[in-house]
Amino acid sequence: MWKGRFSEETAEIVLNYTQSLDLDWCLAPFDIQGSIAHGRMLVSAGLLSPDEGEKIEGGLRQVLQEIEEKSFTPSIELEDVHMNIEHRLTQLLGPLGAKLHTGRSRNDQIATTLRLYLRDRLQKVQQGMFTLLEAILERAHAHRHIVVPGYTHLQQAQPVSMGHYWMSHFQAFRRDCIRLRAALGSLEDCPLGAGALAGSTLPLDRFYTAKELGFKNPTENSLDSVAHRDYLFDYHYFAAVFAIHCSRLAEDFIIYNSQEFGWLKLPDAFCTGSSMMPQKKNPDVLELTRGRTGQIIGHFVDLLVMLKGLPMTYNRDLQEDKRGLLASLAVILSIIEILPEFLSRVEVDEKRAVLGMENGMILATDVAEYLVKEGVPFRDAHWKAGQLVRYCLDNGRSLLDLTLSEWKAIIPEAKEDLLSILSLKESVARRQTYGGTGFICVERQIEEGDGWLAYQ
Ligand code: ARG
Repeated sequence: MWKGRFSEETAEIVLNYTQSLDLDWCLAPFDIQGSIAHGRMLVSAGLLSPDEGEKIEGGLRQVLQEIEEKSFTPSIELEDVHMNIEHRLTQLLGPLGAKLHTGRSRNDQIATTLRLYLRDRLQKVQQGMFTLLEAILERAHAHRHIVVPGYTHLQQAQPVSMGHYWMSHFQAFRRDCIRLRAALGSLEDCPLGAGALAGSTLPLDRFYTAKELGFKNPTENSLDSVAHRDYLFDYHYFAAVFAIHCSRLAEDFIIYNSQEFGWLKLPDAFCTGSSMMPQKKNPDVLELTRGRTGQIIGHFVDLLVMLKGLPMTYNRDLQEDKRGLLASLAVILSIIEILPEFLSRVEVDEKRAVLGMENGMILATDVAEYLVKEGVPFRDAHWKAGQLVRYCLDNGRSLLDLTLSEWKAIIPEAKEDLLSILSLKESVARRQTYGGTGFICVERQIEEGDGWLAYQ
């Protein structure tokens, strides 16, 4: 298409090196969507006759059909998706096809096509996120009265409602939804008409194409329009944080499901066995989710590093923006597809969970807080409860089956009512601070989450 000023054919090896069909051929439907809008605008601006416009639109639709039917395969001599489509259009329409690129460059074209593609994909991701949140809410509701150990430093800390635990992931994924919405919000302006970098001497109507393609406005600055990839950063930021959240969930479930913890039960259909050890049931889906997170972060870093030294405006480096984007989206979409079904089949082994807390140490904070209510300053209460823990550890006793006289021997403030609060269920139920694990608070939290989701 640019042969006018060249005295040699492009070397074969260069064609292979510079082509981008492996990355951008999947964008073809969106490229054609952009071209149809551009053609209509050229008609409305008087740069094409209505008859020419109709023929071009018909030709583009035919090219799309050929692509969908796979009867048209692109060639690397034509470098990328844009030139392959234009070339095919010109084959179909003759010289008229060559009019489509009026006032346009591949620089504003790819920036537009990529936005259209990403908008479509992110809407799919968004639907998946809502399904994921629904699945988590359902589990939270089903498990809201089950008591499991809560950990800090991966050491037993305080008992919590399993519903509360599920809702902690709900909150993280909900924030991801908000980040995703921001990423979609970055796709609201249209770069088409920015040309190669400086706009056009032709009377293009950028508001027309922006509206036609469902954008709010044309972009404000033609140089910036072809130079930046902020909308990709915004996607990658969402993806990286979401992936980290998935990875942490995966890590938890792998641990809680291991024999030493053992209170979380994973569905057989989502686990795999060992070719050698007959007893094995491995949490591969979770491990791969955790393992793929690094790639998602890597694609983000790749783009950041690629952009940091680029001079204004378009540079061919930008062609590589698609490599990480496509790979990242593929992983994110696959995680989003598998997680809801998987999570909705995760169960708790309640007996095992209680067994793990049978020495009662996990209630030491409850003892300290009981003493605070009896008027003991918290630091002293903490020390006394600590003494009691030590007594139990030294004598192989459980905090839960000490007699009142044993209590009194170490903690004179202990009364009959202390024994009644020393239960795992009671401990959870009584933590009623807003956002706490008390069963009532968890119910409220689930309701709030339900209400939020219903409005999305
Ligand atoms: N294929 C390129 C990309 O994906 C668009 C073409 C711009 N090429 C150019 N020589 N100005 O970014």
